[in-house]
Amino acid sequence: MGRFTRRWILPVFYLTDHWISRVGLWLVMSAVVLWIFLTGASEASGYLGILQFVALPVLFFAGLGLVPLGIALQRRREAPDHHLHLPERVEWGNRRVQRLVVFLAVATGFNVVVGGALSYRTVRYMESTNFCGTACHQVMGPEYAAYLVGGAHAQVRCVDCHVGEGAGAKIAAKWNGTRQLVLLLTNRYSRPVPSPPHALKTSAETCENCHNREHDYGNRLWRQSRFDDAGERLETALVMKVGRIHGAHLGKGRRIVYRAADRQRKTMVAVRVEHGDEYGGAGTGAFEREMDCLDCHNRPAHAFETAERAVDREMAAGALPQRVPRFRRAALAVLGKAYPSREAAAEQIPAALLAYYKQNAPDAMVLHRTELERAGQRLLALYQQNVYPEMKLTWGSYPQHNGHTDSPGCFRCHNEELKTKSGKTMTQDCESCHKVWGVEEKNLAALRELGG
Ligand code: HEC
Ligand code: HEC
Ligand code: HEC
Ligand code: HEC
Ligand code: HEC
Repeated sequence: MGRFTRRWILPVFYLTDHWISRVGLWLVMSAVVLWIFLTGASEASGYLGILQFVALPVLFFAGLGLVPLGIALQRRREAPDHHLHLPERVEWGNRRVQRLVVFLAVATGFNVVVGGALSYRTVRYMESTNFCGTACHQVMGPEYAAYLVGGAHAQVRCVDCHVGEGAGAKIAAKWNGTRQLVLLLTNRYSRPVPSPPHALKTSAETCENCHNREHDYGNRLWRQSRFDDAGERLETALVMKVGRIHGAHLGKGRRIVYRAADRQRKTMVAVRVEHGDEYGGAGTGAFEREMDCLDCHNRPAHAFETAERAVDREMAAGALPQRVPRFRRAALAVLGKAYPSREAAAEQIPAALLAYYKQNAPDAMVLHRTELERAGQRLLALYQQNVYPEMKLTWGSYPQHNGHTDSPGCFRCHNEELKTKSGKTMTQDCESCHKVWGVEEKNLAALRELGG
């Protein structure tokens, strides 16, 4: 037997002599094989990075630790003099050789077949909306629930908006997924989850796969109604200049870059139009981004409403009573209270609505009791869709930027603070964005003409 064989080949037998070393070796091999499978596949999913960068290394090092442990135990068992005996010859007739070869063959076959199938299915699963929405239920639960009722985009997968294209984006997403897992396990994540939780994808990578940036929507009727205390419908109607609004920011050759004071981009510090004006204000900001769809339509897939919007929408649709006196006021009083948990809200909200009427309008209470009982359940559903005390998420925590009534929205830029050197500001003229037909008016003539 040559020196080389004795030195480099034979010690391999140590590895499989004891069952503990065999388990260890198996773990090491599985971790390596899975790593190889995942490297291709986890490109597509940030969350897979959690598996690849956290679980596999743990397996790998655990296995690496078991191997010498097994060898030590075997030593103790086999040789009181602490010297293991190696086989004299490497030939098929030797039982230890057989055992090693069979072990390696079985383990490798197992890894390739099971590992391959498993990692393929894991990739599929981890990319699914179901995984993103439910894997860490409490944390992503609100977005998932909002997404499911979200209408137009409930078919777009979470990863299609949250994991961009290009190597940099994927590495960032993986790193981020791993970091989130650590924060989750140590219970140190922020409540509510900040938006955007990480670099936002550009709309060129997401929205514009389906929507054409240059499509001209022209003018659109925008309307909303609410009911006053006496149960009268009040109408607001605008002609929204959607074509003009889109064109001003995203039209051909248009490029607007802004700098914000925060990653939530609630406060703008500077706005620059390429080959055009530069608007600056007080304050500094580190977050810079080229303006796109997401700076106005920031809640395309999981929008949360304010209590006012939710109640008005449901009343207009007839899902909440329109003619019960003072209903809007009562509903907002009940929804606006702080409840310690969703369970507490489930017990208290329906009763609170009745209590409100008992105290403030006992006659209406007697007349509309069944309607109010049903409405209590409906209000609870609205609450549960929007408020999560355990995540410190409440009405209005995640504002929508596509307007200016509930939050600054358009006025983050179109205001008096941001101006050019010569003092020009971005337009605040009502008519450049919309023609106002009427605001909270009874019997709005323009709408009657439309037959509505
Ligand atoms: C159509 C694109 C799109 C899809 C699909 C999407 N998101 Fe989002 N998500 C966004 C945008 C844009 C933001 C940033 C919101 C903002 O700035 O107000 C965001 C923010 C978030 C946040 C940060 C907290 C918050 O609500 O602002 C979480 C958590 C989140 N998304 C989870 C999910 C989950 C889970 C899914 C799948 C069930 C999903 N998202 C699907 C676009 C999307
Ligand atoms: C998978 C294709 C797809 C993607 C990706 C997509 N959309 Fe849409 N979107 C649609 C379709 C289809 C409709 C029309 C649905 C309807 O008429 O009910 C729509 C409707 C809309 C509407 C009008 C209705 C509403 O819900 O307000 C807006 C605004 C919108 N999308 C913005 C966006 C933004 C912003 C993004 C990127 C974050 C985006 N979309 C990504 C397919 C997509
Ligand atoms: C400067 C803000 C702004 C930007 C940027 C913007 N939008 Fe809009 N968009 C609006 C407003 C305002 C409306 C009309 C108000 C509403 O529907 O609530 C609208 C309406 C829409 C609608 C509905 C049109 C209809 O049928 O009534 C779609 C779809 C849409 N936008 C898609 C997009 C897409 C895709 C992008 C990016 C390529 C984009 N928007 C960029 C402000 C913006
Ligand atoms: C990030 C900053 C920013 C936000 C947010 C923003 N805008 Fe603008 N807007 C601009 C800039 C910059 C211009 C171009 C000013 C110029 O040409 O110097 C502009 C121009 C416009 C114009 C064209 C004005 C004209 O005289 O033709 C309209 C209309 C408009 N914006 C509507 C909106 C609406 C509606 C929203 C909210 C849904 C909004 N903008 C949000 C930066 C912004
Ligand atoms: C920079 C563009 C812009 C300017 C300037 C602007 N608005 Fe608006 N306004 C919007 C958009 C966009 C919405 C739609 C909000 C939504 O979809 O929720 C809106 C909504 C409204 C509404 C409906 C409120 C509601 O119930 O949501 C009223 C009323 C209104 N605007 C009045 C005005 C008046 C009055 C002015 C002038 C002082 C003005 N706006 C200036 C863009 C603008």
